[in-house]
Amino acid sequence: MKLTLSVIKADVGSVGGHTKPSSRMMAAVDIEVGKAIATGLLIDGFICHTGDDIAIIMTHTRGEGSPEVHQFAWKTFLAATSVAKTSGLYGAGQDLLADAPSGNIRGAGPGVAELSFDHNLSAPRPAESFMVFAADKCGPGAYNLPLYLAFADPMYCAGLMLPPMIKGFRFHIIDMDNTAGDSVIELDAPADNYHIAALLRDNERFGIDRIVSQTHGEVAAAVSAQRLHAIAGKYTGKDDPVAIIRNQGIFPAPEEIVSPFAKAHFVGGDARGSHVMPLMPVPLNTPVTGMYCLPIVSCAGFSIDKDGRFAESYTDFFDNLAWDEVRRCAQRKAIEMRSQGWSGAAMLPYSELEYGGFRDTVSALLKRFRLREERKPEAAE
Ligand code: 13P
Ligand code: 13P
Ligand code: MG
Ligand code: MG
Ligand code: MG
Ligand code: MG
Repeated sequence: MKLTLSVIKADVGSVGGHTKPSSRMMAAVDIEVGKAIATGLLIDGFICHTGDDIAIIMTHTRGEGSPEVHQFAWKTFLAATSVAKTSGLYGAGQDLLADAPSGNIRGAGPGVAELSFDHNLSAPRPAESFMVFAADKCGPGAYNLPLYLAFADPMYCAGLMLPPMIKGFRFHIIDMDNTAGDSVIELDAPADNYHIAALLRDNERFGIDRIVSQTHGEVAAAVSAQRLHAIAGKYTGKDDPVAIIRNQGIFPAPEEIVSPFAKAHFVGGDARGSHVMPLMPVPLNTPVTGMYCLPIVSCAGFSIDKDGRFAESYTDFFDNLAWDEVRRCAQRKAIEMRSQGWSGAAMLPYSELEYGGFRDTVSALLKRFRLREERKPEAAE
């Protein structure tokens, strides 16, 4: 069967400030997902949150961009918004930018990552396992560096030296500044590695859209790469990307995929979406409560049976002692960066400041600048 994995994620309200969704919001989402499975819209579904962003992880056979699946997610987020409003929660409905999009909701606010494959549990995929990354308080290119390292650098993924992967992977990279639509370039790793790096170094403009096996033509990864503030034209929270990564066999192993996250690399995001801070790997359903407002990322692992249903349990990759060390490293890096406050590299450049208000402050001051009358040299006596 042609199976589609869809992850649709949105921030539609949170309790006590921008920390986490309430239990009643999660319960509302859970009920809707249960109904969609019962009616046969979805084969299976799983929900979790990262900070105050709720992710719905789904399997179905309706293909990518399915209007039914997208509309289901939109209505489910509306149901959670209504709970958030009733309870007086912060930012109710924040990521639902359009009034009522018809069909596909990509570009309407929620983060969307989807990929499809022939699912028959035979070669080259005798078992299907995958991971879902979800981030909060961070910019759209947060996965650029870790996915480059996992899929293009044998220093991180020794599996790239094995026959099923040695031809490398094709990176589909999207230019998120192109408001005319999705503008994508395809570049092959390892041949084009330097070109790939030249684009991916700019986390705010270029993002990985998908990664495809050159040997098997199978999609390995799909990422939601979009800029909410470019869509909405005003502050709407950070872009907080989600990603689906298939693992094992013809793809990198989970440890090869998560190891680059040990860097706790600096990304755009954090408080008011306007700082440069380290990305901290956290367990599923972690609220944002730490000192300042660190960008966080969670990672859940799943297996699916022949009918596309999730195994009865999942793996929480960052819920492990090993990652405590990385969390301490992220915290140390954060304290270092915060010690220079608003100065230079600690905050995002003018064009990337998420709160338009920062720009309004500067624009008002720019109007008050005056050209100084040219100073003439003293006339020689
Ligand atoms: P096990 O099969 O022993 O679980 O480990 C497989 C492996 O190679 C991990 O990368
Ligand atoms: P989110 O809207 O992504 O939760 O973040 C809000 C923010 O800017 C934190 O200061
Ligand atoms: Mg929020
Ligand atoms: Mg959020
Ligand atoms: Mg957000
Ligand atoms: Mg094993």
